[in-house]
Amino acid sequence: MAIRAFLIVLSCLAAATCRGATFSSLQQTLIVTASPQPAQVLKAGEDEITVTWSLNSTFPAGVDSSYKTVTIKLCYAPISQKYRGWRKTVDNLVKDKTCQHKIVANKPYISSSSNNTFTSTVLRDVPTATYFIRAYAQNSEGDEVAYGQTTDSHKAVNLFEIQAITGRHVSLDIASICFSAFSILSLFGFFFLEKRKSKASESK
Ligand SMILES: *[C@@H]1O[C@H](CO)[C@@H](O)[C@H](O)[C@H]1NC(C)=O
Ligand SMILES: *[C@@H]1O[C@H](CO)[C@@H](O)[C@H](O)[C@H]1NC(C)=O
Repeated sequence: MAIRAFLIVLSCLAAATCRGATFSSLQQTLIVTASPQPAQVLKAGEDEITVTWSLNSTFPAGVDSSYKTVTIKLCYAPISQKYRGWRKTVDNLVKDKTCQHKIVANKPYISSSSNNTFTSTVLRDVPTATYFIRAYAQNSEGDEVAYGQTTDSHKAVNLFEIQAITGRHVSLDIASICFSAFSILSLFGFFFLEKRKSKASESK
């Protein structure tokens, strides 16, 4: 029994799974909009995204009293999660893999009805996929307490694409592979010709 309790404590320390903020327990109090247009294709490492967020004023004053920071992330749309367990949506936010790519982390939360904006270039390591943007408000412990997102609850509207750097350079890679294959072949060809030449001179 003691060992069991010890193991539970240990796994809590390791994964922080016991804190257990679940997505379904969060209030959607933030209004989030972003610059990408529906179905727009952005290039990782090149194109910028501007995110705007504010508190939805229909909530009573003080609903945001525990909000300390805001973290904004790129999140996979369901179409880009299919057959990809490593992008799975899990209600426990510690295990959730929906939103893996940060746009900005732990930005101080400013309580006001006006808009906050943040602009950033899409990071170079973002993979090709269909995305939406979600902002989490966090309390002083860093736990998520509220959110807002650029899509609806079905994650079906207002989605955009990001094209990874690697995808764009595939044709270049193929060209360089062909080029190396060609150089190896010509090396062999040269070697073969040299051999024949020396044979010919020997037989004279
Ligand atoms: C603000 O919150 C209310 C209540 O949840 C909701 O009905 C409304 O659509 C929200 N407004 C925006 C702009 O998201
Ligand atoms: C905040 O941004 C939204 C969307 O861009 C806009 O509709 C709204 O008027 C802005 N509000 C303020 C107070 O600037």
